[in-house]
Amino acid sequence: MQPFDAMERLERLTVLDPAVKKVRALVRQKIQPQELRDALHGVWLGHPLHPPLTDVPIGAWTSAAVLDLFPRTGAASSALISFGVVATAPTALAGWTDWSELNPPEQRVGLVHAGANYLAVSCYLASLVARTRRKYALGKLLGFAGLGSVLVGGAIGGHLGYRRASGANHTADVRDTGASEWTDLGAAEELPEGSPIVRQLGQVPVFLLRRGDLIRGLVDRCSHLSGPLHEGRLAGAGADACVVCPWHGSTFRLSDGTVVHGPATAPQPLVAVRITAGRIEGRIPA
Ligand code: FES
Repeated sequence: MQPFDAMERLERLTVLDPAVKKVRALVRQKIQPQELRDALHGVWLGHPLHPPLTDVPIGAWTSAAVLDLFPRTGAASSALISFGVVATAPTALAGWTDWSELNPPEQRVGLVHAGANYLAVSCYLASLVARTRRKYALGKLLGFAGLGSVLVGGAIGGHLGYRRASGANHTADVRDTGASEWTDLGAAEELPEGSPIVRQLGQVPVFLLRRGDLIRGLVDRCSHLSGPLHEGRLAGAGADACVVCPWHGSTFRLSDGTVVHGPATAPQPLVAVRITAGRIEGRIPA
C-alpha cells in the first residue's frame, strides 16, 4: 500500500459521475467559443497552458507562508495571498477547459483536484478577511490551511499528469519506436480513395488517406489521449484538409500535422509514404 494508491481508487469512484456530467456540460457550454478554448488549452503555445499557470498561485502562497513565519511581514503576506487568489482565475479556466476533454477516470480525479483547490481559495479569502480585522494569528492559521489544501490539490494534479498522462504528448515515443527505414504497409490497391485506413509501421499505427495521386500519412494515435484518427472525420479541403479525432475533437492538418484545434497541443507526427511497385511504403522521418 503506497500513499498514492488512494488516487487510483478515486479513478474508479463512479459515484462522482453525475457531478462530473453536470460540471462538464456547464464548462463546455460556458467556456466558448472554440478560439477561447484553444487558447486556454495552450494550442498557441504548443504545450498545455494550465501547468505553468499553477506555478503563480502556488508560488505566491508558498512565499506568503514563509513570510508568515516572521514578524511584521503582514502587509507583504496579504499582498502575496491576494495576488495568488487573483491568479487562480486564469489558472482554473485553463484547468477546467482541459478537464472537460478528458476521459471519465481522469475527470473523477480532476473533480477532487478542483475541490481541494477551491478549499484552498476559500481558506485564503477567509485569511484575508481575518487579517483585515487584525486577527493576524487566525489569518496565518487559515493561510497555512490553504497551503496544505493547495499542496494536496497539486499532488492530485501531479497524479493526473504523471500517472494518467493527462496533458502529455501521447506520440512522444514515435521517433524512438517507429521504423525510420522504408517499410511495407500493404498493396496500393487496398488504399481506397478518400477514406482513411490504418496500417502498422513497426509498433506505430499509421493513418493513411489517398486523395487522387496524393497520399497523406500521420501517426494514427492522437497526441492528446491516443484516440484512433482513422475513425475520425475529415474536414476542409486542399492544403487545409484536416482530420478530426473521434474522441475529443482535436483537429490536425493532414499536410503537416499542425494542431488546428485542441484539446491536443502537440502536433501529430507525419509519416512519409510512397508507392513502389504497387506496394505502399512508409517510414517515420527522423
Ligand atoms: S484522444 Fe482526445 S482529441 Fe484525440
